[in-house]
Amino acid sequence: MQLQSLFCFAVVFAQQLLHTRAEPLCFNGGFANSSSNSCVCEVGFSGSDCSSVKCGGNPFDVTRPVVGQGSSINDCPCGAGWTGVDCDICTSLTSCDTAYKAAGGQYSSTPGSNTTLTCNSAPVVVNVGSTSCIVNDSALTTDLGDQTLVTFQRREKPQRSPFANENTQNNDSSSISLQIWNNGTEQISCFALPCSSLNDLDSSHLYAQWDCQNISCACLPGSTFCDSTVNGSNSANLTSFVNSITGNVSVRCPPTQNEETGAAPVSTCAITQDGISAMFNITGDIMLSSCAFGECVWQDDFTGEGLNKTTSSPSSSASGGSGRAFVGWMALLVGQMSMMNLLP
Ligand SMILES: *[C@@H]1O[C@H](CO)[C@@H](O)[C@H](O)[C@H]1NC(C)=O
Ligand SMILES: *[C@@H]1O[C@H](CO)[C@@H](O)[C@H](O)[C@H]1NC(C)=O
Ligand SMILES: *[C@@H]1O[C@H](CO)[C@@H](O)[C@H](O)[C@H]1NC(C)=O
Ligand SMILES: *[C@@H]1O[C@H](CO)[C@@H](O)[C@H](O)[C@H]1NC(C)=O
Ligand SMILES: *[C@@H]1O[C@H](CO)[C@@H](O)[C@H](O)[C@H]1NC(C)=O
Ligand SMILES: *[C@@H]1O[C@H](CO)[C@@H](O)[C@H](O)[C@H]1NC(C)=O
Ligand SMILES: *[C@@H]1O[C@H](CO)[C@@H](O)[C@H](O)[C@H]1NC(C)=O
Ligand SMILES: *[C@@H]1O[C@H](CO)[C@@H](O)[C@H](O)[C@H]1NC(C)=O
Ligand SMILES: *[C@@H]1O[C@H](CO)[C@@H](O)[C@H](O)[C@H]1NC(C)=O
Ligand SMILES: *[C@@H]1O[C@H](CO)[C@@H](O)[C@H](O)[C@H]1NC(C)=O
Ligand SMILES: *[C@@H]1O[C@H](CO)[C@@H](O)[C@H](O)[C@H]1NC(C)=O
Repeated sequence: MQLQSLFCFAVVFAQQLLHTRAEPLCFNGGFANSSSNSCVCEVGFSGSDCSSVKCGGNPFDVTRPVVGQGSSINDCPCGAGWTGVDCDICTSLTSCDTAYKAAGGQYSSTPGSNTTLTCNSAPVVVNVGSTSCIVNDSALTTDLGDQTLVTFQRREKPQRSPFANENTQNNDSSSISLQIWNNGTEQISCFALPCSSLNDLDSSHLYAQWDCQNISCACLPGSTFCDSTVNGSNSANLTSFVNSITGNVSVRCPPTQNEETGAAPVSTCAITQDGISAMFNITGDIMLSSCAFGECVWQDDFTGEGLNKTTSSPSSSASGGSGRAFVGWMALLVGQMSMMNLLP
């Protein structure tokens, strides 16, 4: 078994941790730019407070339209080769290469790397990985009526992301940004830093656990969860609850590391965060299913840190880095998921 721990307890600047509390308020992992009094947004989000969502397409396309605050992204189809609520998850080995070039990207201009972009579809993050899942909780689905989704971005080395405008303020510290969506509209945005990650790269069982501190959450403007209209009644206003969420958050994909506890599908994750569980009236972890993982990564970056260990086979059903069928709400868009292409 290849067990790898990456610990990042770098010096953290207090100002960075205040990003959802400071002026201006920045959603979705954005950071305040004090000289312009607006936020620097992560890929897929825009607006002076990063509360607007980019619509469809793919994350390399800087011209894609923006969905209005509080509006649904249900009518935003992803470009071919992309999936996820925010269309930031690559689904084939060629997705990133194609989109990068279509957006005018040139490999020779990328410092430190002259190889092509490929797609990492495994739960283990190399540099910056996105995940999109369904909340698998029947009580929650019943209560809220519409499908509740969770997306999160795990950032280990943001400076190695191929996306333009990637936020590089946390070069030295891993972080996680997490969004909760209902009926196609973002409801709640959370952020936590610093994180430590543990990657189990056993060839038969890829597993990633991120343990993060100092979570803070905020309601999106116009969010139904926070504006008293949950369940079509005026029974819930989660604003103060959301603002009070603090402490640690852990994300495990799949939920268990131990293979003997039963082959948890690679498309599942568990989130441990007491405040979010309590908000949803869930006992224990928040279980996610139909998860898609995606990360555009320079081929070079797959080497080192043991990741090339997984070339043998990420699962018993896939071999030689071939695909794996993805089942779930995105199945129509996804088709064949690529597993880690680790061969140089
Ligand atoms: C911050 O704002 C200033 C002034 O508008 C601008 O010149 C600078 O590029 C911004 N920084 C980032 C990282 O966007
Ligand atoms: C890529 O880098 C290698 C080693 O530095 C070099 O030999 C090769 O010529 C480069 N290829 C391109 C296309 O620049
Ligand atoms: C939502 O409605 C269902 C059925 O109408 C009810 O059982 C449930 O308790 C309601 N949830 C909330 C939070 O009011
Ligand atoms: C992070 O790294 C990138 C690329 O090396 C660099 O351009 C950026 O200035 C760094 N950010 C900080 C806050 O040091
Ligand atoms: C879900 O969003 C659509 C618009 O995208 C809206 O027409 C519909 O009423 C919403 N459903 C609920 C239960 O809010
Ligand atoms: C982050 O959280 C830890 C506890 O988990 C706490 O000791 C530390 O002070 C926090 N850092 C900041 C800047 O809030
Ligand atoms: C929800 O609660 C927050 C804070 O508790 C309050 O500011 C806001 O006005 C409330 N919203 C509604 C629609 O009641
Ligand atoms: C939060 O995480 C830190 C670092 O792993 C740990 O030292 C601390 O005990 C945790 N806090 C709680 C309440 O679990
Ligand atoms: C939370 O769930 C428990 C059992 O699932 C239920 O008894 C309780 O009434 C729920 N509380 C709220 C506020 O919905
Ligand atoms: C939810 O989880 C249960 C057991 O953990 C599983 O049987 C079920 O298929 C999951 N639902 C979805 C939609 O994946
Ligand atoms: C990964 O590959 C590189 C180059 O092929 C090699 O030097 C390194 O030892 C490999 N790492 C592991 C953990 O096998």
